[in-house]
Amino acid sequence: MKVTVVGAGNVGATCAQRIAEADLADVYLVDVVEGLARGKALDLAQAAPIVDHSRSIEGSEDWAGAAGSDIIVLTAGKPRTPGMSRDDLLQVNAAITSSVVESLMPAAPDALLLMVANPLDVTTYVAAQVSGLPRERVIGMAGVLDTARFRAFIAMEIGCCPSEVTAMVLGGHGDSMVPLPRHSTVSGIPITQLISEERLAAIVERTRQGGGEIVSYLKTGSAFYAPAAAVTQMVGAILRDEKRILPTCVRLQGEYGMDDVFLGVPAMLGAAGMEQVVEVDLDDEERSALELSAQHVRDTVDQWRNLQQDA
Ligand code: NAI
Ligand code: 2OP
Repeated sequence: MKVTVVGAGNVGATCAQRIAEADLADVYLVDVVEGLARGKALDLAQAAPIVDHSRSIEGSEDWAGAAGSDIIVLTAGKPRTPGMSRDDLLQVNAAITSSVVESLMPAAPDALLLMVANPLDVTTYVAAQVSGLPRERVIGMAGVLDTARFRAFIAMEIGCCPSEVTAMVLGGHGDSMVPLPRHSTVSGIPITQLISEERLAAIVERTRQGGGEIVSYLKTGSAFYAPAAAVTQMVGAILRDEKRILPTCVRLQGEYGMDDVFLGVPAMLGAAGMEQVVEVDLDDEERSALELSAQHVRDTVDQWRNLQQDA
């Protein structure tokens, strides 16, 4: 198995480390900055004898090195800094995504594309448009991260083991995301029985602002440890054919009553990529929050289309 990670910055290099150290695949790291991917790959390869894995990790500026990849993780793009929303990255990152996918397709036409660069739902749309790949092969990571944040905050509130918390966050990767307390439990106990309504509302809001909270501390960039862990879980689910149901940005084709919009929903991930969208029963309030989030994604995609027409 081989995974190419595009972008050897914070998220990309940490993904490379986690994927190799979890023994999931050989890793090829590629970045436009000369020497960056090569240097980080060499550094990671020199850790192998200590952390005990035999995966090869290589890096360069050459797209041809992606040949033979089963999955390509696309992290290339600018991260936000304090005061910026993810949507402020639209113009620069959608253009980078478009050129990166064009450069990669000749080398790895059959790889599954796993998008990470923001604004996530729009870069996933761009990757799908440019590659022409079916929806099973172009997906985005955001929901696993947003859900992990929700789970971590619930665990901090209760003082329980974080992995005992199951939760769900749907929708676009932005302020309009839709955390679902009604579908969240601790060891099977609904969190609505364990946490007061007021505290739960605060946790939901902190989850929505989870990325921004980290940007406000880091100042020069955004989160990368939890994002890389989320990418690695998705990569593992596909390469090991685990059939995990994970919140994934996918193109909806009728599910949730929506068509042709990229949105975070539960999806089964396995050897064929995105194998099935799973529909969860939503009440009226949850459904209208999801529709609002979808409208936000549609508006941002329209913004990108307009920018292209003006260019
Ligand atoms: P970073 O600045 O540390 O790394 C980005 C890397 O991309 C840089 O090394 C840069 O040289 C490279 N790059 C830029 N243009 C390129 C091109 N055309 N080809 C190849 N490489 C190129 O940024 P970081 O922190 O790694 O974040 C990367 C992206 O991921 C950002 O857009 C960020 O907003 C997004 N992100 C998304 C998350 C999600 O949940 N979907 C979570 C965390 C970050
Ligand atoms: C996050 O939520 C930057 O989108 C990224 O941390």
